[in-house]
Amino acid sequence: MMLNNNRSGMRSKLSSLTGRKRRNGNVFPRKYYILNEKTPFAVKEAYKTLRTNILSILAVHRTSNDDTVKFCFTSPSMGDGKTTVCVNVAVSFAETGARVLIIDADMRKPKIHKIFKSQISPGLSDCLSGFSTVSEAVVEHPDINGLYIMSAGKIPPNPAELILSDKFDALLKSLDGVYDYVIIDAPPVCVVTDAVIISKKTLGAVLICRYADTRIENAKKAKNEIEQGGGTMLGSVLNGVEFRRTFGSVKYESQYGYGYGYSDNTEDDG
Ligand SMILES: Nc1ncnc2c1ncn2[C@@H]1O[C@H](COP(=O)(O)OP(=O)(O)O)[C@@H](O)[C@H]1O
Ligand SMILES: [Mg+2]
Repeated sequence: MMLNNNRSGMRSKLSSLTGRKRRNGNVFPRKYYILNEKTPFAVKEAYKTLRTNILSILAVHRTSNDDTVKFCFTSPSMGDGKTTVCVNVAVSFAETGARVLIIDADMRKPKIHKIFKSQISPGLSDCLSGFSTVSEAVVEHPDINGLYIMSAGKIPPNPAELILSDKFDALLKSLDGVYDYVIIDAPPVCVVTDAVIISKKTLGAVLICRYADTRIENAKKAKNEIEQGGGTMLGSVLNGVEFRRTFGSVKYESQYGYGYGYSDNTEDDG
């Protein structure tokens, strides 16, 4: 399944990082995978292609005033791979020598601090609530040159209001000229409004769809919500493609139905 955005729209495929079968629609391996020297060649190549595609689409959308290119990743639902793709795209951008900041804006289901084994706070919510400064909230990755991380911060009662607030605009503005790219891990678009707002306050959103899991109508709904909310759909990524299944003789049946909960009780499971 691919979304056709527009003529300049970007569509990319990412292969499965594990090759492991998912047992049902909402069971995932708990481990996160960050690109490293042991990453299989095919996965590295897929991310290189994705990086090239994203850079081309950003080149179309950025203006000469954009010192710092800001965009976000979102998806129709939880578990589509937003955080995984966001982190690996950020790593692959940093590998080009760029200064890249990842912001965890999924303040209800924060994951970035877990992946990088950093602290959840101070982070975005603390900055937006006035309890922290941006420089206190940003940490530099010890091993990956040029990669900076802002965790989600203490889980706030009102993430949507924080994202909507002028303080978020001011925070984004304060990053101008400091980083080459600011890449935001946003919440699912069909569940809460935050991603639409973030896509509006940045160059736009890249929509992650999960192979054999995202329903085409949910993908279309997500795209429509972004566009009707005044944001830009930069393109889409089909995550977790199992090529053997796609092109081989193995019969494949899509597994539908998420049965997940996305509430403000966010004790996370990953
Ligand atoms: N291409 C992939 N291959 C295998 N596992 C993946 C892939 N993409 C994501 N995952 C796994 O799926 C789970 C959900 O991914 P995550 O990035 O947390 O999704 P989201 O941020 O959209 O909720 C994680 O355990 C992650 O490691
Ligand atoms: Mg996530």
